[in-house]
Amino acid sequence: MKLLKNWNLPDLREAGKRTRGAVERVDTFMIPANAVNMGEGKHYWISTYGCQANERDSETLAGILETLGYGQAESPETADVILVNTCAIRENAMDKVLGELGSFKRIYNARPDVIIGVAGCMAQEDEFVKRVLAHYPWVRLLFGTHNIQDLPALLAEAMDSQERVVHIYSRQGEVYENLPVKRFGKHKAWVNIMYGCDKFCTYCIVPYTRGKQRSRRMDDILEEVRQLKEDGYREVTLLGQNVNAYGKDLDEGLDFARLLEKTAQTGIERIRFMTSHPWDFTQEMIDVIARYDNIMPYIHLPLQSGDSDVLRRMGRRYSAEEYKGLFDAIVKRIPNVAVSTDIIVGFPNESDEAFQHTLDMVKACRFDSAFTFIYSPRPGTPAAEMEDPVSMDVKRARLQELNSVWNELALEKMKAYEGRIVQVLVDGPSKRNPGVLSGYTETNKLVNFTGTGVKAGDIVPVYITAAKTFSLDGEMAGPTR
Ligand code: SAH
Ligand code: SF4
Ligand code: F3S
Repeated sequence: MKLLKNWNLPDLREAGKRTRGAVERVDTFMIPANAVNMGEGKHYWISTYGCQANERDSETLAGILETLGYGQAESPETADVILVNTCAIRENAMDKVLGELGSFKRIYNARPDVIIGVAGCMAQEDEFVKRVLAHYPWVRLLFGTHNIQDLPALLAEAMDSQERVVHIYSRQGEVYENLPVKRFGKHKAWVNIMYGCDKFCTYCIVPYTRGKQRSRRMDDILEEVRQLKEDGYREVTLLGQNVNAYGKDLDEGLDFARLLEKTAQTGIERIRFMTSHPWDFTQEMIDVIARYDNIMPYIHLPLQSGDSDVLRRMGRRYSAEEYKGLFDAIVKRIPNVAVSTDIIVGFPNESDEAFQHTLDMVKACRFDSAFTFIYSPRPGTPAAEMEDPVSMDVKRARLQELNSVWNELALEKMKAYEGRIVQVLVDGPSKRNPGVLSGYTETNKLVNFTGTGVKAGDIVPVYITAAKTFSLDGEMAGPTR
């Protein structure tokens, strides 16, 4: 493979380094002269994988493209620019992305002018980039999580050049303010409060793909929330890999409890936040959540494992007992709180007994819902080097058992909603049945209901008639707000 001199290729080893140096705040987004209006009469398509951080990044990509004049395409087939915003968290994410990239070959053959680009977390991985460069010649642009703001210049370079454009940086990262954004939702918005992660859980690729933990200034965040409220948004979700560690990297003596309280005082109707790492969860945070009605009583609190030895080897910095202590403190202080979790089964050398401890914890906590995964080794992370005699069959069986245990307990929790009235923020007609409306309760339960005179963005009291594992059915029970 020919390596061009002006390429910047990723280096995972470099990406895992951390220094104490200050983080730069950049708010000078500019479009270079050769990119102004370059999208007039043209269209873009963005395909997004992964977490909410990526969703929010895609909103920025779309915002930048629209600033250049591009409109949204109906499908990749009619797009002039196709961007795939990738996720690297587990191996199957890579397979899906490669499958999609493969399917774009046809589009390229029919229209060789199309610019097909790959961005996001997977672009930060050396091996993935090598594979794309070697086997997917129709991918003409590769950039990473640190240089989204350079999209206008990157596109201009890709259009002018016969060569492929590859600029990926493995650095700790900056904080960019005032980038264009096209929000995909009209009533619910994502608000980044921090970027990156410094926890380095031994199985996880995120600290390498997203750089050092960088908190945004509180004033910038609050300004964004106020603006959203003014624009008619009713819900914000504060985003970060570890929202509870917010502010620890700033000199301002700030913490998440204070940010949450200040956000609540903006008066925006619903505030959510994710993800909460148990390690940094303080009693003060719990008190703030309990005190403000507009902070939703829903907490995503990843457990990962219920076994203290596995947790230690995962580098999670809490024991099973400490997790349970925190869980109990939350449930005691916040009335009607819902708690969901993430669990990994089959971490290297997880014994039957260790897995049993996870099941015990799930039974003790009775989570409202759980996202469960089979451990996927990520090259370059410490866990990928650990010996693992446990077979994939055993891991699959564990996942199945875990799912049936949490499903059954979650259904019991859902049943408790039958006969109650809940407040639902309406998303619109249900995907499956256009005659039915759907939305979410304060505790983040999906509700499908019947009603009249209701539109997306309304908050409606709904009487719950029936419960399933993943959703509730109901009927409108009063006027909308
Ligand atoms: N920052 C969040 C998690 C982000 S990743 C936190 O610390 O809680 C979302 C979830 O993916 C994790 O909670 C974990 O359960 C899962 N995950 C991460 N790396 C994984 C891996 N290598 N294999 C399987 N699951 C993984
Ligand atoms: Fe990954 Fe751990 Fe950071 Fe979450 S806290 S993003 S699991 S390293
Ligand atoms: Fe995936 Fe990157 Fe998010 S790896 S889960 S898109 S931070």
